[in-house]
Amino acid sequence: MLDIADLHVDVDNKPILRGVNLHIKPGETHVLFGPNGSGKSTLIGAIMGFGRYRITSGKIVFKGMDVTSLSVHERAELGIGIAFQRPPVLRGVSLQDLLRISSASRDTNLEATAKELNLESFLPRDVNYGFSGGEVKRSEMLQLLAQDPDLVLLDEPESGVDLENIALIGQAINQLLQKDGLKGQERSRREIKTGRQKAGLIITHTGYILDYVPADVGHVLYEGKMSCSGINPRELLGCIHEMGYGECTKCVV
Ligand SMILES: Nc1ncnc2c1ncn2[C@@H]1O[C@H](COP(=O)(O)OP(=O)(O)O)[C@@H](O)[C@H]1O
Ligand SMILES: [Mg+2]
Repeated sequence: MLDIADLHVDVDNKPILRGVNLHIKPGETHVLFGPNGSGKSTLIGAIMGFGRYRITSGKIVFKGMDVTSLSVHERAELGIGIAFQRPPVLRGVSLQDLLRISSASRDTNLEATAKELNLESFLPRDVNYGFSGGEVKRSEMLQLLAQDPDLVLLDEPESGVDLENIALIGQAINQLLQKDGLKGQERSRREIKTGRQKAGLIITHTGYILDYVPADVGHVLYEGKMSCSGINPRELLGCIHEMGYGECTKCVV
């Protein structure tokens, strides 16, 4: 699904990512930990193709295609979707218009999905204008559910969200990643039917989201490099709690 090789990225001429490798297979959910300023948002911004993140070397391959020099909308059309850490306010664009425009399919009942996320009354409002922190995060989930991408990039989906609403965010993520309560056989039947398998990359600071979303592989990004990769995310979170991020640089997995 995603293959990143030796990626170097500058932000405002400052090197931030310094040789990142990442391999995500269809059906997998990866979790990215790392201290503030280590380059986590830069990594998913570069995967999505935002101009601010200048790729100086390395490449990004998505579903077998080199997307390194494609524009944001081309990547979105190919099936990459992002939920921002700090989403922007869009004055003059209502949430329902944005959902309609970005919707992958006309069959999706977006009103019902909005209701599930307690966002029904927000549909006519300008995107994120006057929304609380938690409402903004739920609105991001709703927009991604409409877009229905194959590769789901989530930048701290639980930050600023109260405990009750983290469960809602978790449900939305599971739906996005097709982990919505379907057991192995049912899921693979659906995957055969639709011919699609999803993958996710979730940045989390606290790890709370792991209580709701099953994840397969964990990584630590430290000073622009993957310092630890491949361990079960919960186990990795335990190590971070116990020993701190600095110790993760000694990991040789
Ligand atoms: N516009 C900018 N100019 C200079 N440095 C920046 C800019 N934006 C981000 N950075 C720096 O890039 C580094 C990585 O930022 P970021 O990817 O947001 O980290 P994280 O998401 O891991 O907290 C930080 O040191 C941050 O200060
Ligand atoms: Mg960040």
